[in-house]
Amino acid sequence: MKQFTTVNDIGDLGAAVAEALTIKKDRFAYKHLGTDKTLLMLFFNSSLRTRLSTQKAAMNLGMNVIVLDVNQGAWKLETERGVIMDGDCPEHLLEAIPVMGCYCDIIGVRSFARFESKEDDYSEKILNQFIKYSGRPVFSMEAATRHPLQSFADLITIEEYKTKERPKVVLTWAPHPRALPQAVPNSFAEWMRAADYDFVITHPHGYELDEQFTAGVPIIYDQDEALRGADFVYAKNWAAYADPNYGKVLSKDRSWTITTEKMALTDNAYFMHCLPVRRNMIVSDDVIESDRSIVIPEAANREISATVVLKRLLEGLNE
Ligand code: CP
Repeated sequence: MKQFTTVNDIGDLGAAVAEALTIKKDRFAYKHLGTDKTLLMLFFNSSLRTRLSTQKAAMNLGMNVIVLDVNQGAWKLETERGVIMDGDCPEHLLEAIPVMGCYCDIIGVRSFARFESKEDDYSEKILNQFIKYSGRPVFSMEAATRHPLQSFADLITIEEYKTKERPKVVLTWAPHPRALPQAVPNSFAEWMRAADYDFVITHPHGYELDEQFTAGVPIIYDQDEALRGADFVYAKNWAAYADPNYGKVLSKDRSWTITTEKMALTDNAYFMHCLPVRRNMIVSDDVIESDRSIVIPEAANREISATVVLKRLLEGLNE
């Protein structure tokens, strides 16, 4: 594998999940692969799970790891070409990227949507510059439009917990006080479609996602109707995608919060969320603390998805 930014990079999903479950039984089995190899993890945005799980995955594979928080201790980076750099950015991304590539074998990048330009966000302007100029295999640790390491972990978790061949999986919007990117729901939709589950999305009017991720997926505007018979409920907030409201919060309606009453509509569904989660906005205390909440095993599987992805990228260095 040469890069990992979308579901298409992982190939056959059944094989990927099988590899993940094998690695989960012996996560140090490929420790030789990373000897004398260095991973650079670059964060433009905060992280708890991605930072720790990806670093742990690299250590499972015997890699050295460098972590750089771009906004804490590094030179502030200009990202626009053609800018007269007389402002507060002393370094340009176009020098910084190839320099960073000199010090590592693989680069992971976290760069969220900025909500300044929909075109820049949805063309993955930052991530694609790393792919173009670093000279190294690049993987997404959540970019502007997708979070594939999370979605892969979500898929592994559903495969572990499902009791039906083709479970009903519901992605539901839930309220949040601030504008959040669409990367997690976009990516989740992309992976659920590829897995061919009975997948539906529910959200208030105005929160339609980009059709490239949701084409063919039933959109149900009545959350109660969508939840009926669900085997998995995946809650997430996102800001509006459609123009002219791109990046805006249109609703904070707490009738969309996932509560015990909402979960009672399902077929004893498991509750999932990528975390971090705002309790009693997205989900009630009772639901997230219930025995049907699998948010912790889901987070634990982030180490497994990252181990599979790094293993394949390390194998790709020799191809
Ligand atoms: N789910 C997830 O990516 O968590 P972090 O933002 O803490 O990395």
